[in-house]
Amino acid sequence: MNSCITGLQWGDEGKGKVVDVLAEHSDIVVRYSGGANAGHTVVVGDSTFALHLLPSGSVRPNTICVIGNGVVVDPDILEMEIDKLAQRNITLTSRLLISENAHVVLDYHKKEDQLREDSLGQNKIGTTIRGIGPCYADKVGRSYAIRMADLRDIEKLKSQLRNIVEYKNKIFAALYNAEPISADQIFEKCKCYADKFLPFTTDTTEFLHKSIVDGKSILFEGAQGCLLDLDHGTFPFVTSSNASPLGMPAGCGVPSKMVDKFLGVAKAYTTRVGAGPFPTEQDNEIGQYIREQGGEYGTTTGRPRRCGWFDAVAVSYAVTIGAIDSIALMHLDTLAGLKEIKICRAYKINGKETTFFPANTTKLSQTECVYETLPGWEEDLTEVNDFSDLPLNARNYICQIEELTKKPVTIIGVGPKRNQTIFRQ
Ligand code: IMP
Repeated sequence: MNSCITGLQWGDEGKGKVVDVLAEHSDIVVRYSGGANAGHTVVVGDSTFALHLLPSGSVRPNTICVIGNGVVVDPDILEMEIDKLAQRNITLTSRLLISENAHVVLDYHKKEDQLREDSLGQNKIGTTIRGIGPCYADKVGRSYAIRMADLRDIEKLKSQLRNIVEYKNKIFAALYNAEPISADQIFEKCKCYADKFLPFTTDTTEFLHKSIVDGKSILFEGAQGCLLDLDHGTFPFVTSSNASPLGMPAGCGVPSKMVDKFLGVAKAYTTRVGAGPFPTEQDNEIGQYIREQGGEYGTTTGRPRRCGWFDAVAVSYAVTIGAIDSIALMHLDTLAGLKEIKICRAYKINGKETTFFPANTTKLSQTECVYETLPGWEEDLTEVNDFSDLPLNARNYICQIEELTKKPVTIIGVGPKRNQTIFRQ
């Protein structure tokens, strides 16, 4: 059984926890897109692990972890993550594979990300400054890209880096009046990356196809969420990769035909970090309540997340483009204590009602939300482990989401820990 797990909103839906929980029954977990902009949190007992590049199966000692070709790898962060796990006696030495075709995020990417965002002022995207956009731009541009495989030929890499850095420095000086960076310094770092990561670097596509033939069970783990997808999200306020399940085949070389189940992860409300349209945003005491109750601060950047009501129009769109079979609804416990809870069931754009999400920034900014209002509940849900033990209003809330999205909610999160999960099938 192979499953693909992706976010149905603007990221931070709780994919890390879902992947970790389901990894118990999987042999392999594959990250297929994004980079260290992601922040996947896994809680095991009293320990919290914040993962950025490593698949969320990493904390399970027998799970093989694959970083696919669609990921942009920041070796500094990867090294930090591996070391942090090692400090907790979790070792990846014999079970981490990195695609030789994955592109490498280097210091000039992060510098470019920062300079560009600073120069955009009011119009900035609000990126994580992890160099994601510039690295993917180099991938598409081809001439100035470095892949993991390039670490194998260190002499060739030296001259590649000289050319690239010369080019980047011209841009830094001309557009931003910024200090140049040193090719030699980056080269020295790359030599260390080669020592550290080449033993893990391989043809992961071949490995995955062999594993499928051998009957292994694979989880494909998306990063960010469908609404941040470069092609199908709220462009330009998106990330630079195909964060929806549409990015999975290209991001790891396994066709979606080989995936048995597409599970979408959504929060019981909506959050967003960075700029961009957010029709159900509650920039008021409701949003503040959700932020504090849900600890809605970025795992990667610490930024407070924008919070709002569940948007069934947006989630239904993500369900459609991702061919989602079922939904994992996370953070249901966060909503306890609200007298009333709203769900956006349609948008009104220029007086016309629609239930199809327009992934178009102009249209979205003209959107008026049509809400359904449901009664809330007071009860603490964090100890509930059976659907039938949830308060009636919480059950009704879930049923309403199922009705609007036309998909079953099969997993419900009522807290960060593994055992704070309700399974319905
Ligand atoms: P970038 O991916 O760093 O280029 O950022 C582009 C946009 O995607 C910004 O609005 C970020 O806040 C958002 N973003 C990137 N990664 C994540 C994530 O893991 N969770 C939520 N938002 C993200």
